[in-house]
Amino acid sequence: MKALTWQGVSDVRVEEVPDPAIVNPDDIIVRITTTGLCGSDLHLYTVLAPFLDPGDVLGHEPMGVVEEIGPGVTNLAVGDRVVIPFNVSCGHCWMCGHGLHSQCETTQVHEYGTGASLFGYTKLYGQVPGGQAELLRVPFGNYLPIKVPEGPPDDRFVFLSDVLPTAWQGVEYADVPDGGSLVVLGLGPIGDMACRIAAHRGHRVIGVDLVTERLERVRERGIEVLDLTEHDDLPGTIREMTDGRGPDSVIDAVGMEAHGSPVAGFAHKLAGLLPDKLAQPMMENLGVSKLAALYSGIEIVRRGGTISLSGVYGGAADPLPTLQLFDKQIQVRQGQANVKAWVDDIMPLLANGDPLGVDSFATHRLPLSEAPSAYEHFQKKEQGMVKVVFHP
Ligand SMILES: NC(=O)c1ccc[n+]([C@@H]2O[C@H](COP(=O)([O-])OP(=O)(O)OC[C@H]3O[C@@H](n4cnc5c(N)ncnc54)[C@H](O)[C@@H]3O)[C@@H](O)[C@H]2O)c1
Ligand SMILES: [Zn+2]
Ligand SMILES: [Zn+2]
Repeated sequence: MKALTWQGVSDVRVEEVPDPAIVNPDDIIVRITTTGLCGSDLHLYTVLAPFLDPGDVLGHEPMGVVEEIGPGVTNLAVGDRVVIPFNVSCGHCWMCGHGLHSQCETTQVHEYGTGASLFGYTKLYGQVPGGQAELLRVPFGNYLPIKVPEGPPDDRFVFLSDVLPTAWQGVEYADVPDGGSLVVLGLGPIGDMACRIAAHRGHRVIGVDLVTERLERVRERGIEVLDLTEHDDLPGTIREMTDGRGPDSVIDAVGMEAHGSPVAGFAHKLAGLLPDKLAQPMMENLGVSKLAALYSGIEIVRRGGTISLSGVYGGAADPLPTLQLFDKQIQVRQGQANVKAWVDDIMPLLANGDPLGVDSFATHRLPLSEAPSAYEHFQKKEQGMVKVVFHP
């Protein structure tokens, strides 16, 4: 089959790789019809390079049609339409039973001391072959796949794999009180969707980014936006807009690739250039995240408010202003999305009238052969690229 493979720093290629096969009795093989490109894939493109091997298949936002089932699969049949969550979660361990699917005890990666395995996401997360491919092997076939109805286009459902539950969890964790206010930092796919969900719930939402078309997309949905580059004192501007106090909650949907963090920018380059043996301990022991967005979130949120981190951070010793966090009495909540935990809450919003605008959410629909150039344009935020989906 054809698959998008990682080959080196800023080097991904579509290659011919062996077809996946059923390994465990409850495995399924899915023929992928639509598969997303994510801001998280950009971390693999550069800073997480020490944890990838050339040939690793990327991608964790797939959906498609069941092509083959193992002898132990009873909940699905060949031909069913399914979305695959980005966390590989078993459904029967203690963590899955408590809605913490991204910490699944069956698939945790003990070698690196990390949580549940993820599709297409480095040795830190199990080095599981990903879904930017023609075919995907999916374990836990009786539990993991989300069966979706025939009829609506793939775009209606594909974002259940990551964007929707991640944004949903971001809003849940932000814990905005009734009639409260929320600032969303970063208007990539995750921040954009978080704005839509929070506005749909009736919260006052202010979105922040520095890319014109990303700001525009959110503004078009009737949500207030601020262009980072137009405000020297962003926290001050936002305080003025929120009774001089600051918003109740902030979602950081930027993560460790934030604009405006020169020191960590150097660490990112270094991590990509050093041999893996040197770079891995550096990543595991040093602060390497670009922290501009998180720092501004800590400034912006009101005293006693909540910061919800959807953005991924990756340094073991990233410096944090603990004095300010403590003094302002800030709650911080975070983590990979527990995809399966939120599906039942989200599904009704995909059935009636598309209130979140998922059908038109993708800005680019491309064949998989164009994935290498799409990675590059998405990283550089060129060509109005906000959300790309591939059709393998
Ligand atoms: N928690 C999870 O389970 C989960 C799932 C998916 C994605 N993510 C993470 O969420 C983050 C966002 O993902 P995405 O797909 O939307 O990525 P993205 O890279 O497209 O979006 C990030 C946005 O932040 C903006 N930005 C950069 N610096 C900023 C700053 N200082 N202030 C405000 N905005 C700034 C960028 O212009 C960009 O629009 C990434 O870190 C990604 O890894 C987490
Ligand atoms: Zn993703
Ligand atoms: Zn589990």
